[in-house]
Amino acid sequence: MTSEAPVRGLDNVVVASTRLSAIDGTAGRLIYAGYAIHDLAEQASFEEVAYLLWYGELPSAEQLGAFRGRLAAERALSAAELALVRGVPAGGHGMDAMRTLISGLGQLDSEADALDSAAVEQIGVRVLAKAPTLIAAWDRARRGLEPVAPEQSLGHAANFLYMLHGEAPAPEAARAFDTYLVLLAEHGLNASTFAARVAIGAGADVYCALVAAIGTLKGLLHGGANQKAMETFLAIGAPEQAASYIDAMLARHERLMGVGHRIYKVEDPRVRHLRRCVKTMAGLNGDAERWQAIADAVGGVVATHPHFTKRQLNPNVEFYSAPLLYSLGLPLDLFTAAFALSRTVGWMGHIREQLADNRLIRPKSDYVGPSVHPFTQLAERN
Ligand code: ACO
Repeated sequence: MTSEAPVRGLDNVVVASTRLSAIDGTAGRLIYAGYAIHDLAEQASFEEVAYLLWYGELPSAEQLGAFRGRLAAERALSAAELALVRGVPAGGHGMDAMRTLISGLGQLDSEADALDSAAVEQIGVRVLAKAPTLIAAWDRARRGLEPVAPEQSLGHAANFLYMLHGEAPAPEAARAFDTYLVLLAEHGLNASTFAARVAIGAGADVYCALVAAIGTLKGLLHGGANQKAMETFLAIGAPEQAASYIDAMLARHERLMGVGHRIYKVEDPRVRHLRRCVKTMAGLNGDAERWQAIADAVGGVVATHPHFTKRQLNPNVEFYSAPLLYSLGLPLDLFTAAFALSRTVGWMGHIREQLADNRLIRPKSDYVGPSVHPFTQLAERN
């Protein structure tokens, strides 16, 4: 038996080729299918970005209309899907509900096992369209409220807020959430996307791969950090408390959630757009202004405190996502579910790439247990 040193965390190991996105963590650059994230965040809608990532080019007006029509056709829930929502326990975390809902959606889909490209593409459209309706209906059910059916005249982002709150969002709020969805849609071989590739690469169906991704995204080092970042901002309570709170936290050897990244060693290029969206929300309501001020104060400490500067730790995508989602009225335990609503695009893109050129993903482990010794009979063991 040979022994090889493991690459812990698969740091810098390249295990797939992709046409979906490229990240330069030193220059702080991100592109989706050949477009700078800055241009997409400022000018494209989520539907346009989903189309770009799935079909490799930005849609024409006609293609976009047809794509929006397909999403609209899938957005409403059938009686069986509504029964599924009612059957998911009201207790527990929003990501647990999300995992169960997508799994249940698969059980209700007679084509769930299909792995041919047309069927997989259709499942992608179905899940992207229905996931916001399912999670909004579940959240309303746990609050004792009836589900709100999707509104055909609203886009993807606005529809989710409408179905969650029961009233159409202000256009600025809808645009801010749309930008959030654009920014979170895809990000290379992050942990949840890798999980989806492993599952689909083993021959599991698309819903299984999505459930694997959702389960992984819940992790606090990954998508679960947005909720934890907001809980930290809530605990800090006022901008002037930021520095002392962080000092105390570091003294307890705790991590500041929403900060640090495996790849980015400078500011994550998505951060500036999320900061702008939080500012938009602050213009709409005074409460959001408070969370913006606290996040800015925490960001100021991160930019100057030696613990963070020495280790090249900067606010990541979760940092301003937290006050943004909070000011959009999402309950804390739906923050990571909101991330999943967007990242479904990236997961499906990678699932399709993996299927197009599949090889079972099967790395090795380095055995560090005892060497072989004689078997001990049960009666002789103490
Ligand atoms: N707060 C304080 N210290 C930190 C933080 C943090 N958020 N992140 C890393 N460090 C420190 C570590 O303690 C370590 O210090 P040491 O060298 O003295 O031991 C050093 O920085 C390097 O940390 P690693 O864990 O080796 O870095 P890694 O690349 O594995 O971790 C990660 C990246 C998981 C994102 C980490 O920065 C972290 O835990 N951040 C907080 C959680 C978070 O925000 N996750 C969301 C990431 S973005 C996304 O997934 C969508």
